[in-house]
Parts: sequence; C-alpha cells; structure tokens
Amino acid sequence: MSEPTRIDVAGERGYPVLVGRDLLANLPGLLDGAAQVAVLHGPPLAALADRICSGLRKAGLAPLPLEVPDAEAGKTIEVAARCWDTLGGANFTRTDAVIGIGGGAATDVAGFVAATWLRGVRWVPVPTSLLGMVDAAIGGKTGVNTAAGKNLVGSFHPPVGVLCDLSTLDTLPPVDLVAGLAEVVKCGFIADPTILSLVESDPAAAVDPASPMVRSLVERSVRVKADVVGADLRESGLREVLNYGHTLAHAIEKVEAYGWRHGHAVSVGLVYAATLGWRAGRLDEETATRHRSVLSLLGLPVSYRPDAWPDLLATMRVDKKSRGTRLRFVVLDGLAKPSILDGPTEELLADVYREVCA
Ligand SMILES: NC(=O)c1ccc[n+]([C@@H]2O[C@H](COP(=O)([O-])OP(=O)(O)OC[C@H]3O[C@@H](n4cnc5c(N)ncnc54)[C@H](O)[C@@H]3O)[C@@H](O)[C@H]2O)c1
Repeated sequence: MSEPTRIDVAGERGYPVLVGRDLLANLPGLLDGAAQVAVLHGPPLAALADRICSGLRKAGLAPLPLEVPDAEAGKTIEVAARCWDTLGGANFTRTDAVIGIGGGAATDVAGFVAATWLRGVRWVPVPTSLLGMVDAAIGGKTGVNTAAGKNLVGSFHPPVGVLCDLSTLDTLPPVDLVAGLAEVVKCGFIADPTILSLVESDPAAAVDPASPMVRSLVERSVRVKADVVGADLRESGLREVLNYGHTLAHAIEKVEAYGWRHGHAVSVGLVYAATLGWRAGRLDEETATRHRSVLSLLGLPVSYRPDAWPDLLATMRVDKKSRGTRLRFVVLDGLAKPSILDGPTEELLADVYREVCA
C-alpha cells in the first residue's frame, strides 16, 4: 500500500479524503465500531466489491453485499427500498456502516441509503470513476432520481471518509476518464490554474490513469472541492461556483435525454460560460480562449448543435439553479476569480451561443 495523500474536508463533521493507489486496507480504520458493513456496488465493480468484502472479513467485520443495477438504473427509490429491506433483514444497526463502490451514481445511492437508514448511519464512498473522485463522492450530497428528473430526492449526509483509490481507474473506460477531466479543468479555471498548466504540459499523461499526473490532478481537484464544500455544505452561496459551466451543461444533458456524458456537456458549458464572461466584459479574451484549447487537448467536445439554442434556452429557464425567470451564470472575472452574471440579456446569450457553436 502506497502512502496516501490526506485532504481534510472541514465542517461540523469533517472527514478525510485519501488519495493514492491500493488504499483498500484503510477501510476498516474508517469504520471503527461497526459490526456489519453493507457493501453497495453495481455489476461492473463486483470483483472490487469481493476484494473489499474479504478485507473486511479479515478485519473481523461482517460484510453485507448489496448489488444494485449499474449507473442511473441503480439510482432510484425502488433500488434504495430493496437495500432498506436487506438492511432490515440483517438487523443493521445505528453503529453499522455503508460502503458505496462505483461511479457517482452508485455512491449517490449508497449515501442516500446511509442517510435514510435509521435516520443516518456512517458511510464511506469508494469512487471508481474520475468524476466520482473529484466531484460526486465529496461534499455529502446524496440522492436518487425520480420520474420528474435527476437528483430531485436526496439529503446532505457527509461521509466519514472518502477513499480515492487511483488503481481502480485502471478498468475505467477511457471515454469516462476523459469525461471526468472536464470537472478537473473546471477546478483549474475557478480555483487552481496549476491544473491547467499541468494538462497543457502533457495532455497524454492526463489521460493515463497510472501516471503521476493523474494523481496530481485528482489531489488538486479534490482540494478545490473540499475547500468549497468545507465552507458551504448546504449550497448557501459559495458552493455555486462549482456550477461553472453547468447551466448550459444541464440543459444539453436534458435535451439529449441524458444520452450525453455529464463531463462532455460540462466541457461545452465551460466554453460557453467563458465566452459569455468575455462578451459581458468580465473576462479577458486570452483566458476565455484558453478554455477551448485546454479542453480540446484532452479530446473533449467544445461545441454543440447550432440549431438547438431555442430548446436549450427554454430548458435553462426551468433549471432549478435559476432564480425566477432570470438566468444566472457563474462566470470568471479573471483566472480563478469566479463570480455571478445575473440576468444577461437573451440577445447576448444567443449571440454567444452562435459564436461558440457556429
Ligand atoms: N453527489 C454529488 O455531489 C454529485 C456530483 C456530480 C455528479 N453526481 C452524480 O454522479 C453520477 C455520474 O457519475 P459517473 O460519471 O461516475 O457515472 P456512473 O456512476 O454512471 O458511472 C459510469 C459507468 O462507469 C462504470 N464504472 C465506474 N467506475 C468504473 C471502473 N473503475 N471500472 C469499470 N467501470 C467503471 C459504472 O459502472 C458505469 O457503468 C450522476 O448520477 C450524477 O448525478 C453527483
């Protein structure tokens, strides 16, 4: 086991995020006092879940495997209810704990089951996608989708620790690794420009899960998210900066009926938000242009269908993040200086879309 990097998330119930390779031996230490440990995972992570279960057994804990359907199919109230049934059948108590293994969908539902069982038991996400490591597993937002939309039911329930075991990325499909890099680049623009220099210096290393570069990128992005959510667990304000690029991205995902990867939509959204900031007189042209160049170096998409604008605008207007009928965008006032653009004109928004997606 290599020495992990420890990044602390502050807060009433602060917790460590461990980043490194081959970290699974750290799990029992995070679950002190538990007798049973529910191990929730989707089918693609079954082998890893088996390894985790045998490690828990060796440490004297009783693992309770909870296999759920993969990806968004596992992030439903019906799946959570089946998990509650299993916990009930096993007399799962308040001192027992849940481990969620997988991408953001699996860790979201695992956290939701932990948040709701006996009004909250301890949990540890073991994110295995890049997006899970740098985003979904950190911050304590848990939840499920409903027929009316994504993430509509959930709870803030911070974990007791997060294990970002980089060796799990070895089996992640490359397209998912690259998609996760959009959130990494976002962290670079809103808070840590060294991320951008690293990617620009060696984009091939940025997409190689075994490279020291990926470890640096994960550590840096985790720090950015940890700093923000440590200061604002419940999205009262500061946390909004994490939404950079996401207003348009959420609309693209909806218009695509979630057939696009989140990271791909975020990539287009970042180029849009940067161009909007520039055209609104907030951001210099060079930094705005740098968005497109960094994202392109990684092979991420930087534009979307030119004819989609009316649908995208209508979708953004009902986005839960907008206030009333006015749209709000996170923009940059400069590198690592996020701020809010409240109520830009429809004409400006359409012009910027034409420019980005011509
Ligand atoms: N809670 C939050 O704050 C938060 C933040 C961002 C995103 N999310 C949620 O995260 C989800 C998206 O996460 P995602 O991009 O990880 O997608 P995902 O969870 O759907 O995972 C994508 C696919 O990769 C597979 N996979 C994951 N790790 C693997 C590995 N190491 N090897 C092989 N296959 C692997 C998964 O099984 C799945 O098939 C969405 O539901 C989104 O709402 C939550």
